Amino acid sequence: MGLLTGKTALITGAARGIGKAIALKFASEGANIAFTDLVIDENGKATEQEIAAFGVKAKGYASNAADFTQTEEVVNKVKEDFGSIDILVNNAGITKDGLMLKMSEAQWDAVIAVNLKSAFNFIHACTPIMMRQRGGSIINMASVVGVHGNASQCNYAASKAGLIALAKSIAQEMGSRGIRANAIAPGFIETAMTEALPEEVRKEWMKTIPLRRGGTPEDVANIATFLASDLSSYVSGQVIQVDGGMNM
Ligand SMILES: NC(=O)c1ccc[n+]([C@@H]2O[C@H](COP(=O)([O-])OP(=O)(O)OC[C@H]3O[C@@H](n4cnc5c(N)ncnc54)[C@H](O)[C@@H]3O)[C@@H](O)[C@H]2O)c1
Repeated sequence: MGLLTGKTALITGAARGIGKAIALKFASEGANIAFTDLVIDENGKATEQEIAAFGVKAKGYASNAADFTQTEEVVNKVKEDFGSIDILVNNAGITKDGLMLKMSEAQWDAVIAVNLKSAFNFIHACTPIMMRQRGGSIINMASVVGVHGNASQCNYAASKAGLIALAKSIAQEMGSRGIRANAIAPGFIETAMTEALPEEVRKEWMKTIPLRRGGTPEDVANIATFLASDLSSYVSGQVIQVDGGMNM
C-alpha cells in the first residue's frame, strides 16, 4: 500500500518540471493522476506514459489554467473519468520579470492570471466535489519570494503571496468539511524556469543557500506527498519552505 493508494490527484501545469515530479512521486505512492498543461504534445504524452508505468491511471488534459470556463470543463471531465478528486495541486506558473518602473500592464496581468487566478479557478471547481467526498487536500505552489519579496519580480512575488493567503483562507473556510489547504514555497529549484538564469546570478544565489545546492523537483515532490497524504492529516493553513535553508 502506498501513502496515496486509492486517491485521485489533479495537478496543474504538470507536463514537465516540478509538476511532473509531483505527478511521478504521487503515482509511485499509488495515486491516480490527472494533470493539465497548456497543450498535451509528445512531451505531455510521454509524461502520461511515465506516470502510467507505476500501474495507476494517468491522463493529461490540455487546458489554460487561467481560464475560468476551461477550468470548469476540465474539472468536470476529470470527475467523469476518475470518479473523484481527492488532491488538488495548483502548480501552473510563469514568470515575466522586470523592475516596477519598466513593468507593463500585460506582464502584471499575465502573471497574476496564470499563477493566482488559476488557483481560484481550480479551487472553485474542485471544492464542491471535495465537500461531497467530505475531505480533500489542496496544495498551492507558492515561492519563497511570496514570503520575502524579490526585486524585479513584483508581479510574481505578489501572485505567490496571494497563493499563500488563498490557502490560509480556504483552510479556515473549509476545515470543518475535512478539506485541508497548504502552500509550498520552493527556493531555487533546478528546472527550465531557473535554467534561463545567467551563470553569475546562479553563483550569487548559491552563496545564500546554507545547503550550497539548488533543490531538485523531487525535493519539492517529497513535501507535496507529505501534504497530500494522511501523514499531514492535522496540518492545514501552513507554508512549508523547501529552500535549502535560504530563508529562515
Ligand atoms: N523552479 C523554481 O525554482 C521555482 C521556485 C519557486 C516556485 N516555483 C513554482 O513551481 C511551479 C512549477 O515551476 P517549474 O519550475 O516546474 O516551471 P516550468 O516552467 O518547468 O513548468 C511550468 C508548467 O506550467 C505550464 N503552464 C504555464 N502556463 C500555464 C497555463 N496557463 N495553464 C496550464 N499550464 C500552464 C507550463 O507549460 C509548464 O509545463 C510554478 O508555479 C513556479 O512558479 C518554481
